[in-house]
Amino acid sequence: MTFHMCVRSNPMLRKTNMAVWGAWRSWKLSLHSSTVYASPGPGPLDRSEELSSVSTEKPPHTPVMLKEVLHYLDIKPGQVVLDMTFGGGGHTKAILNMVPEVTVLALDRDPTAISLAQQLAKEYSGRVKPLLGRFSELEALLSNMNIKPGSIDAVLLDAGCSSMQMDQAERGFSLSKDGPLDMRMDEERYPDMPCAADVVNTLDQQALASILTAYGEERHARKIASTIVEARRVSPITRTQQLASVVAGSFPAAVVYARKDRLHRPAHVATKTFQALRIFVNDELNELHAGLRAARAALTPGGRLCVITFHSLEDRLVKRFLQGDDLSNLDQYHFSPRKQGTGKEKLVDEKKDGGSVYWLPLRRKVITPEKYDVKENPRGRSAKLRAALRR
Ligand SMILES: C[S@@+](CC[C@H](N)C(=O)[O-])C[C@H]1O[C@@H](n2cnc3c(N)ncnc32)[C@H](O)[C@@H]1O
Repeated sequence: MTFHMCVRSNPMLRKTNMAVWGAWRSWKLSLHSSTVYASPGPGPLDRSEELSSVSTEKPPHTPVMLKEVLHYLDIKPGQVVLDMTFGGGGHTKAILNMVPEVTVLALDRDPTAISLAQQLAKEYSGRVKPLLGRFSELEALLSNMNIKPGSIDAVLLDAGCSSMQMDQAERGFSLSKDGPLDMRMDEERYPDMPCAADVVNTLDQQALASILTAYGEERHARKIASTIVEARRVSPITRTQQLASVVAGSFPAAVVYARKDRLHRPAHVATKTFQALRIFVNDELNELHAGLRAARAALTPGGRLCVITFHSLEDRLVKRFLQGDDLSNLDQYHFSPRKQGTGKEKLVDEKKDGGSVYWLPLRRKVITPEKYDVKENPRGRSAKLRAALRR
């Protein structure tokens, strides 16, 4: 996928931020005239060391809300389950151990995760079928395997990044570990796809601010974008810690850790900037929407869906999808909490039970982790689970 397509396929940017187009055009021109530095994105990485450091014995990612997922999916022996986000295999492994003769189709866009799924497939003698690809590629992958639409009994989508991705400094997701500013989940498959360094070093100030506002809900987006543009004039921003200190430079030293996360722990001021870049680079909201549609097509009537999200942008999208909102044109929806929720938005196919013609909610309210779960696994602190039955 080209940078052009990446920008164009982000709905909130496509419509509202013409600045992105201007920036894209000038970047292209500058590349031709060789007046700016080359993009500093790293090339494909050797992941063999990374893989050897993880084992399927001890999951490299602690599954979030495992008890709740198993409860709501209610998988029966012999059923076919689709884990759309295999990651470290934590949920899949629990399903395999709990339910006899179940088959798990294990999708992930990250080849490192799929290598783990292949190991698990050997351990569980073929009960795991690894599928390398994105949510938006799922329908084609299932069709290649001759799996018919409407034939899957349960689907899990646990959105976002895995600990394996976050903890590897060289993947560039982590604010606290220094590494190349990458953040791509599948750069091995799409090495030409722009990485986070491409975004911060090439887009103009207005486009950067739009990304930080749209995907990070960052109130100080314009100030941060302006500092980034100033800093990159001196030298390209190529490392995660370099970006963190550039963002920190937009604020007085006393407030760098003044924000609090949901556990009331100090959070770095660049946290939302990192989130925004990651969502943009991986086109995560469009992918999530594609994933929900693919899950709807794959599930059998009476089949169950569990979706775990980690920030409000994702949860709002899932909630509206399950309520029957037509999200085919994401532009018309305002994902900002301030603009959201007049309660009078027209739902395309809302039913009285809070679901839609496609979905019956298994619990009307969103499900959040128990206190002890958060203590055990603080990374899951902002998780939200929605569960529904396919009508
Ligand atoms: C939170 S982790 C899943 C963890 C997993 N449930 C476990 O227990 O180990 C999310 C995973 O989804 C994958 N992912 C994210 N977006 C994706 C997409 N659009 N298509 C396919 N996989 C995706 C990521 O690569 C990551 O491995």
